[in-house]
Amino acid sequence: MEINILAQTAKAMVSAGKGIIAADESSGTCKKRFDAVGVECTEETRRQYRTMMFETPGIEQYISGVILYDETIRQKASDGTPIADVLSKKGILPGIKVDTGAKDLALHPNEKVTEGLDGLRERLAEYKTLGAKFAKWRAVITIGESAGRRIPSEACIFANAHAIARYAALCQEADIVPIIEPEVLIDGDHTIEQCFEAAETTLEEVFEELNHQGVAPEGAILKASMVIAGKKAAKQSSVEEVADQTLRVLNATVPKNLAGIVFLSGGQGDEQATAHLNKMNQSGKQPWPLSFSYSRAIQNPVLKKWAENPKANVKAAQDILLSRSKMNSLASQGKYSDELEKERPY
Ligand code: 13P
Repeated sequence: MEINILAQTAKAMVSAGKGIIAADESSGTCKKRFDAVGVECTEETRRQYRTMMFETPGIEQYISGVILYDETIRQKASDGTPIADVLSKKGILPGIKVDTGAKDLALHPNEKVTEGLDGLRERLAEYKTLGAKFAKWRAVITIGESAGRRIPSEACIFANAHAIARYAALCQEADIVPIIEPEVLIDGDHTIEQCFEAAETTLEEVFEELNHQGVAPEGAILKASMVIAGKKAAKQSSVEEVADQTLRVLNATVPKNLAGIVFLSGGQGDEQATAHLNKMNQSGKQPWPLSFSYSRAIQNPVLKKWAENPKANVKAAQDILLSRSKMNSLASQGKYSDELEKERPY
């Protein structure tokens, strides 16, 4: 483990005004997104869509890294350049999703544990030769009730925290920066207080396990979900509440020397996710840079425009990607306002 290399990469991932595009949807998830806009989902259409995004002129002003899926890091742009090189030529760091998905947790109905540790050392070595500088592992925590018990259970939180820490240690051993993503799902009718409690317990356990495994915080990035009421909750959270409660949980649980925090959008509206990030960055100086690593909140309008006519709409879709990237870049500096949305090209 070369701590200097790890710390330098992690710092670059959250450098001022920049964030990460998550484009690591599994082929199954990608099919759901393509089906929703009426595009056939094949290896070739996934390649065309993602290459279109990564070739967006000027995107490197706002984007520090892109999380790729196994299939994509092996693909080439139409001119034969490997996709990872398309990114690195622009100074964008290629990353790779390495977990193999959230599977049912035994004896715990409706809870998941993320798998992917088997053979991970060897897979990381290969991804490194393909250009990956960082990796991602997503754990899923569900709030609710199952079989008469409140969830998340201790078993679910512990199993996921342990696995994510072992993943992070293997990444750092290979000088690949781990993104640690314990996502507390927005699905359900829970209150913001219940979300806070689940996030607090999860983050405490995750950082305890990371510490046990010897993971260096200065060479790691947390991908956090925001503290927010469930999508079906009777009382929805205000922008101020989300910013306040998210900062409160992070300050209570995250080591001050962690390299940075990026957020997932988790099913929030596109502009809502931007406004929440902005509010947090307007709330005074925090111990870590706070930026974005959105998939849906960046890609939704891009995919929609591209799907209308994948050949003719390349430039129009790229303009939208550039615009959403810029808005989120501004939000990562606390300089966004919804007035700016009036300028957007869609
Ligand atoms: P969303 O922003 O769509 O939640 O995706 C982020 C991500 O990478 C989920 O793992």
